[in-house]
Amino acid sequence: MKGHIVITGGSSGIGEGLARHFIQQGWQVLITGRNNNKLTALARELPGLQTINYDSLQPGQEQLIADFISQQWNGQLDVLVNNAGHVALTPITTINRNDLEAMYQVHLVGPSLLTAACVPFLQKSKGQIINISSSHGIKAYAELSAYGSAKAGLNMLTSIWALELAPLGIRVNAIAPGPTNTPVLENAGLPAELIQAIHENDKTTIPLQRRGAVSDIVANTAMLIESGSSWVTGVILPVDGGISVS
Ligand SMILES: NC(=O)c1ccc[n+]([C@@H]2O[C@H](COP(=O)([O-])OP(=O)(O)OC[C@H]3O[C@@H](n4cnc5c(N)ncnc54)[C@H](OP(=O)(O)O)[C@@H]3O)[C@@H](O)[C@H]2O)c1
Repeated sequence: MKGHIVITGGSSGIGEGLARHFIQQGWQVLITGRNNNKLTALARELPGLQTINYDSLQPGQEQLIADFISQQWNGQLDVLVNNAGHVALTPITTINRNDLEAMYQVHLVGPSLLTAACVPFLQKSKGQIINISSSHGIKAYAELSAYGSAKAGLNMLTSIWALELAPLGIRVNAIAPGPTNTPVLENAGLPAELIQAIHENDKTTIPLQRRGAVSDIVANTAMLIESGSSWVTGVILPVDGGISVS
């Protein structure tokens, strides 16, 4: 057994890919999600996978995870991956309070409260935190002010937590994926024609001329977690086909 890892938003896309990888590598894995059918199906398919229904828009959710770690894992935790998230188009002229609050809750408030709840466990293990950010937190795109500013905020949280938690022996890094093939755009309710147009556009605007695969994000997250990266903290690693330098 390699260690204990919590992955938020493990019921779909990048989080699900991470869960599959770490289960395969012999880790103890807890994923969170809101879709109970998906959580149950994954737990059935991947023996040993633990699941919790967690909605970061609801108060007190971080305590569910802290209780699980205390009671089921005897307080052992090596890695927390703050991955849960959603994307939404929010033109500034039509922006509203609900959309803003949901965006900042899921990308900033939820990860902050969950990280705080996990620090005592991670201090014991000299563990690490990985925040799944976005190229949108580095580069500006029109009509994505809520999402872009939330991810830019998550990047700054990564830097600040890295400083604050270094004396406790906890490392904090972020992965900033570019456009990656997951259900995220469908989940955002975008029409199929718009999704198709985005995919076409990505072929010419991404320097490496392809969208990312979940395996690209998993491989680079695993590199930070599993390789000899014990002197790496405060890094925001773009995994984006070159978008951040274009
Ligand atoms: N795909 C991309 O192009 C891309 C690029 C850059 C960054 N990212 C980031 O990567 C992360 C994962 O995205 P993905 O592409 O894998 O998306 P996805 O397939 O839509 O999965 C999102 C996950 O987050 C969970 N989630 C959403 N809202 C939540 C909430 N309020 N509370 C708790 N859990 C919530 C979902 O749970 P349920 O489905 O169970 O509700 C699901 O497990 C996100 O932070 C996203 O911003 C994605």
